[in-house]
Amino acid sequence: MTPLLEARDLAYAIDGRTVFSGVSLTVDAGERLAVVGPSGSGKTSLLACLTGLVTPTAGEVLLQGEPVRGLAGPSRGVAMVLQGYGLVSLLSAAENIEVAVRAAGTRPSDARRVARQALAAVGLTPHADQLVDELSGGQQQRTAVARALALGPRLLVADEPTAELDPASRVLAVARMLEVTERGGALVLATHDLDVAASCHHVLDLHVTAARSG
Ligand SMILES: Nc1ncnc2c1ncn2[C@@H]1O[C@H](COP(=O)(O)OP(=O)(O)OP(=O)(O)O)[C@@H](O)[C@H]1O
Ligand SMILES: [Mg+2]
Repeated sequence: MTPLLEARDLAYAIDGRTVFSGVSLTVDAGERLAVVGPSGSGKTSLLACLTGLVTPTAGEVLLQGEPVRGLAGPSRGVAMVLQGYGLVSLLSAAENIEVAVRAAGTRPSDARRVARQALAAVGLTPHADQLVDELSGGQQQRTAVARALALGPRLLVADEPTAELDPASRVLAVARMLEVTERGGALVLATHDLDVAASCHHVLDLHVTAARSG
């Protein structure tokens, strides 16, 4: 069976400095991969390579057997939760999601409903109409998770998606993200949270990878 996501011997360098090299991974439908490693080990850089946000220095990324060249977004079934959230601060939480869902081709009336449902699923109904600027860091993070989930991704790539969350919000957000794999999708997440990593089938330790590959 063709893996949902595959990376072959990936390397990434910035300004001539190797961030990581020799990274190969396979994520099948229904699987979860945690990318761990200390700050600066290259987790965000690897996730960016996997979704085509940046181009690896060497190696290849395949999504359902097809090469990733340029950003792989909702049209290829991919959604991302960025480490910095990537929300539009002058829009409300609901509007941020509506915009993304409409851009992915959903009708405006449906997009509104989908946005509300996605916010409800992470416990943000009371804050749906607040501007992003008026939300706490944790509420912004849950909005970013809700936006990615609202796109109904086959592959969800999430960069430290629970870093700002209190325990109850974290449980809720993690449960929602795990549902992606329960309906046959795949999840790749960078995390410092050992409990979250333990809920994944595979763990890629970038620190170890970098050490092994010299
Ligand atoms: N645009 C950039 N220009 C120069 N260096 C960069 C750039 N982006 C990342 N780096 C460097 O690449 C290395 C890996 O960064 P990256 O953000 O991938 O790490 P990380 O594992 O996600 O860290 P954290 O846990 O703090 O989020 C760091 O040393 C960082 O300084
Ligand atoms: Mg990072």
